[in-house]
Amino acid sequence: MSKTTWTKIEEILSGNKKDKEVHLRGWIYRTRSSGNIVFITMRDATGILQATVKKGNLPDSEFEDGKKALIESSIELTGKVKEDKRAPGGYELQVTKLNVINFAEPFPIVKDQSPEFLLDQRHLWLRSRKLASILKIRSTVVGAIHTFFRDRGFYEFDAPVLQPNQCEGGSTLFEVKYYNDKTYLSQSWQLYAEAGIFSLEKIYNMGPTFRAEKSKTSRHLSEFWMAEMEAAWMDLHDIVEVGKDEIRFILKQILKNNKNELEILEQDYKKLKQISESEFPTITYTEAINILNEKEGMNIKWGKDLRTLEENKLADYFNTPVAVTNYPVEIMAFYKPRDPKDPKTALCFDMIAPEGYGEIIGGSQRNLDVEDMKKRLKAMGEPVENYKWYFDLRRFGSVPHAGYGLGVERVVAWICGIDNIKDTIPFPRTLLRFRP
Ligand code: 4AD
Ligand code: MG
Repeated sequence: MSKTTWTKIEEILSGNKKDKEVHLRGWIYRTRSSGNIVFITMRDATGILQATVKKGNLPDSEFEDGKKALIESSIELTGKVKEDKRAPGGYELQVTKLNVINFAEPFPIVKDQSPEFLLDQRHLWLRSRKLASILKIRSTVVGAIHTFFRDRGFYEFDAPVLQPNQCEGGSTLFEVKYYNDKTYLSQSWQLYAEAGIFSLEKIYNMGPTFRAEKSKTSRHLSEFWMAEMEAAWMDLHDIVEVGKDEIRFILKQILKNNKNELEILEQDYKKLKQISESEFPTITYTEAINILNEKEGMNIKWGKDLRTLEENKLADYFNTPVAVTNYPVEIMAFYKPRDPKDPKTALCFDMIAPEGYGEIIGGSQRNLDVEDMKKRLKAMGEPVENYKWYFDLRRFGSVPHAGYGLGVERVVAWICGIDNIKDTIPFPRTLLRFRP
């Protein structure tokens, strides 16, 4: 027996299968019957297609199965592709063979259910067109990040997920029982990457990252994916430019591969294209404060971190992402060095996305002054002896180096134009949820 060749719905919608007989498999997305005809909208991973099942065109038992099958039943269909202007996508299938693989029970998800209910049903809700579109965009973003760094000579370098120390402050650590001891889930790949650059020079990674964020916001997850880079010999200026290039590269890959998905999500293609072709400004924190106070009528004291409100105002001011450098050193992590030209500030930057999507990248040049780091760690109440291995990196052939981390979900949320970061990851973990 010859093996069946299965056609994907996107091939049909592209017009390549007009008047041909095809075999399809997928799920019932919608169904409605009247008398001797059943209209099934079928979906597979690539799209949706209308299929018309007419009594007489196929064996009666298959017709009855088609009539009986509820949405989300899995099916195989054989039929002829016909052009039909009224059908979504412009084509329909005239079914001559129908095989139900699994008769689905009544599907619990119907229209207009609460976001919490949908999160409880996440394992089923993943099939929605909206989530499927976001997940395809996420896949492109992740692929683009790997390509971007590999094309530029970066090696992929892995760090442990179980780490004995904080990197970004003790208050957001997740503690894990480790045999008779305790350890923490990774807040960042960075400290280990700083060891890696001495053998590989330019490295990157993308992996799950954990922060016990104690507040509910539309920007924070407890488990998210961070794409990080670290490079020997680079300074703040160099990595800011790498970050801008990375974002433009991601956007270009999306524009090339995900036109359909952007359309389903009603996201403005032209707007994203324009951003992908723009230069992004770089300003200092001090300049940002001046803009906020003088042009936006705010009253921000120099020395305070920028909150969501301030970031959003700043984003309104520019139509592209904007890099903000030189935050006050007092509010920065111990590994961010003072700027010798302006010692109140650190050699660090955040990239702020347009339209209120907030900080999408955070990074810095790295502190080479062990005494300064010890002082700052002590001030945080950190046991300095735990960082001995890290300080060794400053003792054996230390070099200037820098790196940053990009929040994958924040970038996906911005590109998709969706209002909550939760929908950018298949199974979100937040302050209030770690199920299913
Ligand atoms: O600014 P952050 O905390 O930087 C670091 O962790 C550095 N150690 C990275 C480095 O230099 N290698 O985090 C980097 C980015 C943020 O800009 C944000 O986009 C994202 O990670 N991020 C989160 N995304 C979702 N949920 C959270 N709770 C996030 N916390 C940070
Ligand atoms: Mg940050």
